[in-house]
Amino acid sequence: MENVNTVYEIQQKIEKLKKEKDICILAHSYQGREIVEAADFTGDSYKLSVDASKVTNKNIVFCGVHFMAETAKMLSPEKHVYLANTAAGCPMAEQMEPEMIEMIKAQDPERKVVAYINTTAALKTVCDVCVTSSSAVKIVSAMEDKKILFIPDCNLGAFVQKACPDKDIKLLQGGCPVHAAVNPEEVRLAKQAHPNALVLVHPECVPGVSEQADYVGSTSGIMNFAEKSEAKEFIIGTEMSIAEHLQYKCPDKRFYILSKKILCPNMKLTSLMDVYRVCEAIGSPAAEENEIFMSPELIAKARVCIDEMLRLG
Ligand code: 13P
Ligand code: SF4
Repeated sequence: MENVNTVYEIQQKIEKLKKEKDICILAHSYQGREIVEAADFTGDSYKLSVDASKVTNKNIVFCGVHFMAETAKMLSPEKHVYLANTAAGCPMAEQMEPEMIEMIKAQDPERKVVAYINTTAALKTVCDVCVTSSSAVKIVSAMEDKKILFIPDCNLGAFVQKACPDKDIKLLQGGCPVHAAVNPEEVRLAKQAHPNALVLVHPECVPGVSEQADYVGSTSGIMNFAEKSEAKEFIIGTEMSIAEHLQYKCPDKRFYILSKKILCPNMKLTSLMDVYRVCEAIGSPAAEENEIFMSPELIAKARVCIDEMLRLG
């Protein structure tokens, strides 16, 4: 009979490989529970960027989407960085080409380009500063410049504009197809179904959704709010894994999913077996398939706006 492993047994094998091969696992909070449990660091995009810059291990396995592993490589270029599932990309990160941004900059050179971290390294090379959803308002407020082009997410951009009314923020039509799929009517229906629940949403949602929320914030912002709140029921308007993680953290509270549409198929591509396979392959040529390779020139150019984010954030 074939030898079948339980989730716990695979996690134990990963733990052993981590020690043997000096591996650190970074997992975004949108990953499933079995992956988050196997990780050394978990959190939102900002926290993982800071964690990636401090890792001391020789090898980093990233469980998330491609731009996140790319960011980890830029912050730790001397390390081997692997993406656990190479098919996991973020459609928002691919929405704009550097040439288009260069054209806009040429027409309006005073305008500083603020890029959401959900962008490719190539796009980052033409941007002035990066932000994440948890640091966007803080960083834009701290900038001396008044004229800003915020890319690619127009919903996060609109949220920043509302919080920074003294800035002139130009937006383009981009965004997260997963969060933007939630419509305002779904919030009304969810509130009707759970009248005592607070609504917590991510700023990647459309303004009509954010306007009805009790709290708008990044993934970790939502998690911290729910953990600290005196309230007992919450409607979670971000990737549905967050509701699951929160339910484990706060068993005495109730968490409802705002919409069945907020499941990121890209984040969910990674399985625990993918993590195991890449850990097992590290040290052999087979791991190259998952390794992030970037030229030193690209790293140097794209890193400028990430360093600026870490300085201002
Ligand atoms: P944060 O991790 O900044 O909350 O962003 C959410 C997201 O959509 C990541 O891809
Ligand atoms: Fe990209 Fe949206 Fe998925 Fe985040 S949730 S990885 S922004 S598609």
